[in-house]
Formats: sequence, C-alpha cells, structure tokens
Amino acid sequence: MSRAVIAGRMLDAPAPGKTDLEEAALLIDQSGTIIERAGRGTPQFDMLLRSPDVRKLDARSLLIPGLVDLHIHAPQWPQIGTALDLPLERWLGEYTFPLEARYEDIAFAEAVYDDLVPALLAQGTTTALYFTTIHEDASLALARSCLKYGQRGFVGLVAMDNAALCPETYRHASPEAAIDATRRFIEAVRKLPGNETGLVQPVITPRFIPACSDALLRGLGELARETGVRVQTHASESDWEHECVRTRFGCTDVEALDTFGLLRQHTVLAHAGFTNADDRERIRKRQSAIAHCPISNAFFAGAVLPVRHLIDEGTACGLGTDISGGYSPSIFENARQAVIAARMLTSGVNPDTAPGKRGSPGLEIDFAEAFWLATRGGAEALGVPTGLLRPGMKLDALELRMDIGMSFPEGPDCAANAVQKIVCHAGLHSVTRVWVDGKIVDVHGRGKQP
Ligand code: GUN
Ligand code: FE
Repeated sequence: MSRAVIAGRMLDAPAPGKTDLEEAALLIDQSGTIIERAGRGTPQFDMLLRSPDVRKLDARSLLIPGLVDLHIHAPQWPQIGTALDLPLERWLGEYTFPLEARYEDIAFAEAVYDDLVPALLAQGTTTALYFTTIHEDASLALARSCLKYGQRGFVGLVAMDNAALCPETYRHASPEAAIDATRRFIEAVRKLPGNETGLVQPVITPRFIPACSDALLRGLGELARETGVRVQTHASESDWEHECVRTRFGCTDVEALDTFGLLRQHTVLAHAGFTNADDRERIRKRQSAIAHCPISNAFFAGAVLPVRHLIDEGTACGLGTDISGGYSPSIFENARQAVIAARMLTSGVNPDTAPGKRGSPGLEIDFAEAFWLATRGGAEALGVPTGLLRPGMKLDALELRMDIGMSFPEGPDCAANAVQKIVCHAGLHSVTRVWVDGKIVDVHGRGKQP
C-alpha cells in the first residue's frame, strides 16, 4: 500500500460529549497510520488534494471512526433474537451451552464465523472483542475469518470448568486443561499466517466467576501476568450472578477478580451494572474497562448501568452488542439504546409513581457521549490507536451516506446535529465503505463496497 489521501467531511469525538466536524484531508502512510490532517482553507489541504492518490468523498458523505464492539459472543450469532424471555441462568443452560457445544464441529464453526465477520464489518464494526467457545480449532477459525475479511479482532477462547454449572459435554475437564488450552491458543493466534502485524490478538477469557473454579481463575490471572495478554470476562451482570459471587467469596465480582490477578490494564468487564463506586474506583486503579451492553441488560440484568457516573469519573467504557444476549449486531443500535436506557433511568418508568419520586435524576447521557462510547471509548478501553481521525491513529473508518433522511442542519450546531442523526438513524443502510488498518475491506458484497 502506498501513501494515500482521503478528503471530505469528517466527524469524530475527541472526548465524551465533544465532537468535531470539518472538511479535511488525511494523509495515510503504508502501514495504515494517519500521518497528517489538514483542514480546508489551509495550504496543506490544497497540496494534499493535488496528490495523485486522493480519494474525494461525495459531498453528502461523512467519514467517521470505525465502531468498536467491546463484547460479543461469536458462536451465538445463529441464536440472535432467541429465548430472551428467559432469565440468564435458564437461557445459558437451555439454549446457549447446547449451541456453543456444537462448535466442536469445525465446519459448523467456519460457516458461522465466515458469515458473522463480514456482517459485522458491513454494520460498521471495525474492531470486535470476541468470546468464542472452549474449542481451540473452532476459535482459531474465528481468528482466521477476522484476518480473511480484515477485521481488527480480539479473540478469547472461553475457559470454564465448574461442573456444578457447566454441562459435562461443554466444559474443560480441569483447571489445568483450560489453562493449557488458553496458553496454546495464545501461541497459535500469534503465529497465524497473515497475522504478522498483529491485527488479531488473543484474549484470556474466564467466562464468568460462576463457571470457573478458584484454581482456574488463579491460573488465568498468573497466565495474564506472565504473557501480558488482555483479559475479558462478565462481571456483576444480574442479581443471580452477583449473588452467586457474594455467596461464594463474600465480596463483589470486581474484588474477587482483582484477588485472582484478573483486573489488569485493558481488562474488559462485560455488563457490570451491579458494580458500586468502590468497584469502579478499583477498575480505574487497575486501568480496566467496562463494556456497556444496553440491549442485553434490558433482558438479563433487570437494571441499567449508570454510564453517566462512568463518564464523569473517567472509568473506561465502550459499547457491546453482547450477541446474543443482545439481539442486534449494530453498535449504532446499541448507542441509541444507551441514550434511551439512560433517559429512562433518569426519568423513571412507572407512571403510577409521583413525578418527583419516579426516577434517578441526572443520569442521562447525550448523543455525543454515546457516539464517543461507540468509537473512541471502545478503542481506549482496548488500548488500540483508533477511534479518532487524527495523526498517530490507524485509519479505521466508515463512510456514511447522509442524504435525505440523514441530512442535518448546517450552522453552529452542525456537529451536534450530525451526531444526533447518526446515533438515531445510522445502520447497515448508511455504511457505504469501511476501512480497517488503512485498507478498504471486502465485506462480501454486504457493505455496498465500490
Ligand atoms: N454470563 C456467562 N455467559 C454469558 C453469556 O453467554 N451471555 C451473557 N449475557 N452473560 C453471560
Ligand atoms: Fe456476554
């Protein structure tokens, strides 16, 4: 790849609630890194536009950073929109574990993952933090699909060994078996042909505390320290799950994970709706992060994560689809649901309650904050140089078509107007082109590629 220039209107969110919209040109180097940005009206902008490799965006298009899905279960893709009326513990036992057990069949795994990855890219998800299953070969198939389609993938082989919760046909035989498998998987992902730039990274993935023995949690904490590999898990997701941990350890999920050495820089905790202020302080101290999954939380958590507190305190946070606890593969959809959930938390929802007592005032988030969570928030949580259209960042970006229903008023509030349109309305239909690591990716004809 030689140096290239992209010019047109671009929008990004450098901080929560702060958005920037301008006509600019980006110079991208051979490695896909943005090395220069020049705004219209500067001599440098005019010079970049004269470059032989310039790609000028249509006047109605808008370039935005790629979306980050901070929590998704790849094997649950065939099950989106299924059995969401069940509580988490029954949904896991009756639907999810039996489905995930099928990934012993590598052909099944390849077919699902080769369908999922381009579908996510077409939705604008340029980076995904995945849970897979306990199967090493099938999990490597997901890593290969990410490389094949060019998605930035963080892939975690699921570790689970607790016979009291996990079926005999779907669990590791012992803590040692799960730790050895995780170690082999880390090596295998790092050595995958085509992964020389590290576009796909392994992740240490204890499913959640209830599914893991103490020895497994301790062993994975040690493995994380030894290898420096990122960690992901579920934490404080529902009353049932939170109570399991309290009964077993007499403390919160976050405290227990910290004791086992699993709360580290860029550890991502999915859900975390039942964390308290002390938990969040601990998360910040360890430089860990939370994946907010608003759709899934509406079904399984029975509570709304107060993202307002996270943003105000500086607790790292991004958005997750939690497929298939969440039914939608779209991070745009989860961004709008994050805004809606926070508004309902603020106002309260029971009309039989007096207005002054109905809600928890002051917990709303705005559209610009949701946009930040979907882009830069997720990238910061993972520690990847993406999520902004600025020098030093890798070019992970989407071209959105903003015509007719997506048009927005110009003027002083132009950026705020554009962000609200995007969070409310963007989706598969508006994503016209996708770049990851500076390259336009092939999304199998599903992303309306040129
Ligand atoms: N907790 C443990 N496993 C899962 C899962 O697959 N989905 C959700 N939402 N929560 C979990
Ligand atoms: Fe999950």
